[in-house]
Parts: sequence; C-alpha cells; structure tokens
Amino acid sequence: MPLVAANWKMNPTNIDDALDLARGILSVARGHSERVEVVIVPPFPWLIGVSEVLDSSGVKLGAQDCFWEMSGAYTGEVSPAMLKGMCQWVIVGHSERRLYLGETDDMVAKKTASALSSELGVIMCVGELADHYDAGTSDQVVSAQVKAGLASCSADDSARLVIAYEPVWAIGTGKNADPEHAYRTMRLIRKVVGEMIGAGAARKVRILYGGSVNSKNVQQYVELPLCDGALVGGASLDADEFAHIVKVTAEVYGHR
Ligand code: PGA
Repeated sequence: MPLVAANWKMNPTNIDDALDLARGILSVARGHSERVEVVIVPPFPWLIGVSEVLDSSGVKLGAQDCFWEMSGAYTGEVSPAMLKGMCQWVIVGHSERRLYLGETDDMVAKKTASALSSELGVIMCVGELADHYDAGTSDQVVSAQVKAGLASCSADDSARLVIAYEPVWAIGTGKNADPEHAYRTMRLIRKVVGEMIGAGAARKVRILYGGSVNSKNVQQYVELPLCDGALVGGASLDADEFAHIVKVTAEVYGHR
C-alpha cells in the first residue's frame, strides 16, 4: 500500500490550529485509508492531542525524530520507548536535522535501529544537496547515506522501513526534481537496500519522494514505477491540499 506522510515540521504554533488541521485531514483521508496509508507527523507537544483526534480512524501518527537510547540523562530528547504505543511511525535523518542540528549518518543509523527495535516504523530521509546535484555526485551521496543508515538493519525490518528520497534543493523551494532524476535515484536506493538486507526484502521497503510535493505535481511522482508515495511538508499544512495529494495517490495506485 502506498504511504503519504504529512510532515508538519515546527507548525502550527498552537494546539487549536493543530487539532483543526488534523480534523480537516482526517475528514478526507479516512475515506482513503483502505488504499493509502496516511501518516500525520506533528511536533512533539501536539502528539497526544492529535492521537485523540485520529483515535481508531485508520490514519496513523508519526513523530518527527527520536533519540537512540530508551531512557536516561539526555536532556531534551524523546525515546522510541516513549513514542511506542502512541505513534506508529518516526521520521529519522530529515535533511533539516542533518543541516541545523548536525545529525550524522551514524546518528541516523542508531536512531533507525533503536526505533525499529521498539516496533516503530521508520521513515529514513536521504537526499543530496544542490552542490552534489550540480557536481553530478548525487548517486554517491545518496547511496552512502542509505548504506550508513541501514548499517544495523536486516531483512526482518523491511515491512516497517520506508526510505524517503528528498533532494535537499527541492525541499520547501518549489523546485521539483525532474521525475526522471527521481526515478533513477529511487532505482539506485532499491539496489543499495538490496545489497544491505537482500533483494527480496528490499522489494518490501517502500520508497517515497519528497520535496515541494503538492496537489498539482504529486501525480508525476507517484506514477513512477518505484515510488510508493510521498513525504509532504508545506502542502500538508493545508488540509484540502493534502487531502488532494492523498486522493491522487489513491487513484494512481488503484490503477496499478
Ligand atoms: P516540502 O518538505 O514539501 O515543504 O518541500 C518536504 C519535507 O521536508 O519532508
């Protein structure tokens, strides 16, 4: 089943707006939950409130990050053990964390392994910077990120593992990646995942596209043979816009 995730990032800034947005998304998304796995990923303080809105609707809840230890003296961190039971998914290695918080491939690998061991699904983000793209080194950068991030993963993790390919230069910029470039990179990701956990298991790992996805351009990505959905940032803050992305995804996969 395809997966479409709403990464709200550090928005909205108050609980009322967060709950309204969750209700707005839910009102449309629940009608497609048989065909698309929809995941809402709010900031930590809104997780409990949004989980109450989602209740047993079939729309899933995700966290935007987690730490690798389960408890202890780690001020400001949130562990997979704390998220388990409330969230079904966690995003790790988002480029904004790599960029602003100094998150390394090694940290991403530890978070991935720890979250999977807590039975959370992991959406691991990878993607090249504009400089890499311009220099033609996207493939090397992305395959190194995938290899490092999956260092402790095995075939058993495949069903709960999602890789989001997000060219960093396409995030929040309105500059969409050419679908051909996205396809070639997703094919590379599938190959590298196969080298890490075996080709059979790699086929179960879903690959998403992310970076300025909106209702107008989503179809060209979800139509790509290797694309299993989208990780949506800005456009997920508008319930109608996000609902449309879910609807298009459901239609495209309904025809496969
Ligand atoms: P964007 O963000 O859709 O606003 O480009 C995507 C993401 O960062 O996950």
